[in-house]
Amino acid sequence: MKHSRACRTRVDAPVSSPRLLWLLVFFLVVSTPNASSQTAGSTSYADLASILAQRCVMCHSGGAAPVGLRLDSFEAILKGSAKGPVVKAGDPSASELIRRIKGIAQPRMPMTGPPFLSESEIVLFERWVATGLSKGDAVEAMSPPDAAPRRPASGESVTYVHVAPIFARRCAKCHTEKGSMGPAPEGFRLTSYEATLSSADRVRVVPGRPNASELARRIRGQARPRMPFDGPPYLDADEIRLIEDWIAQGARDAEGKSAAMPAGAAVRLHGTLGRRWQLDGLDLAVGTRTRFDKAPAAGDYVEVRGRLDATGKVRVERIRPR
Ligand code: HEC
Ligand code: HEC
Repeated sequence: MKHSRACRTRVDAPVSSPRLLWLLVFFLVVSTPNASSQTAGSTSYADLASILAQRCVMCHSGGAAPVGLRLDSFEAILKGSAKGPVVKAGDPSASELIRRIKGIAQPRMPMTGPPFLSESEIVLFERWVATGLSKGDAVEAMSPPDAAPRRPASGESVTYVHVAPIFARRCAKCHTEKGSMGPAPEGFRLTSYEATLSSADRVRVVPGRPNASELARRIRGQARPRMPFDGPPYLDADEIRLIEDWIAQGARDAEGKSAAMPAGAAVRLHGTLGRRWQLDGLDLAVGTRTRFDKAPAAGDYVEVRGRLDATGKVRVERIRPR
């Protein structure tokens, strides 16, 4: 109301008194969106766009965005995921996006973490929600190259940052707590670095040893059913090689640190038995304590159960045709 009156003043009458002039300046300042957001200490989408671009859109963009949640434009964030809105104006603690970046809801975001967002970045998101989800200055829509998962430069080591978008887009819909097939198949979650490397029941990723990793066997189709379970399409050759390289280089976390060998951990592998106890080229350690069911022979498709020694070699406890 006041605002439109000030405008009319400007249009209808020449501004004569200094008092009116000050009033006019005041309303112009208050009605400029950027000035108002800065003076009020509030936050707009424009302030968050670069964090989203660097930490979120490599997964949350395009048709395969996890849970249908795209974070590559203002409108997309407000639209939310297949489960509903992820931000609620004025109520950060009821906003799934805030709960995820703080780790109140799991899996914590960004999925590549640690590192997660810094305290000050989290505060920025909270303030944006608390002050009503303003858009702020027009921000150009993020371009597809920004949204594409980063490939390692030549000579750079492969880390979880490079492979996590593949797991997020192609695997996480099933391999999560409450996925599209119910609980995670085989209890195997692919929604965090920790869960992917977990050796709680058995390991699927053996650092340094792709051939001993059931995950690599499944995406190649050596172990059946081939993954992703809803394929074809399966992963393309580049994606498979990237994941193999990641494992071969020690299954590094987002900060580049190699995973420790989970010596003593259980493994369960599927594949085709070759001569002299090889499983698709992987040397198996077979000994007096190995149990053989139904005399497995070269050429058989088998299941192998065993434990890793300190070098990542598979000491076979049981082997049987499937
Ligand atoms: C490496 C891929 C990846 C990155 C990077 C990532 N996410 Fe996610 N995000 C996922 C996956 C996968 C899920 C689904 C996990 C689940 O709940 O089963 C998800 C789920 C979410 C959800 C829950 C949606 C819902 O309705 O259940 C929110 C909110 C979210 N992410 C926000 C973010 C934010 C914000 C960032 C950046 C700070 C981010 N994510 C970065 C992969 C990623
Ligand atoms: C549509 C659902 C679905 C998708 C998508 C999916 N999986 Fe699976 N996954 C399953 C099911 C079901 C099983 C159990 C199959 C069996 O062995 O009978 C499984 C089993 C596995 C196993 C074996 C686990 C173990 O304990 O031995 C691995 C490894 C695996 N999946 C990896 C992946 C990877 C990597 C992707 C993505 C490239 C993926 N999966 C995508 C449904 C899915």
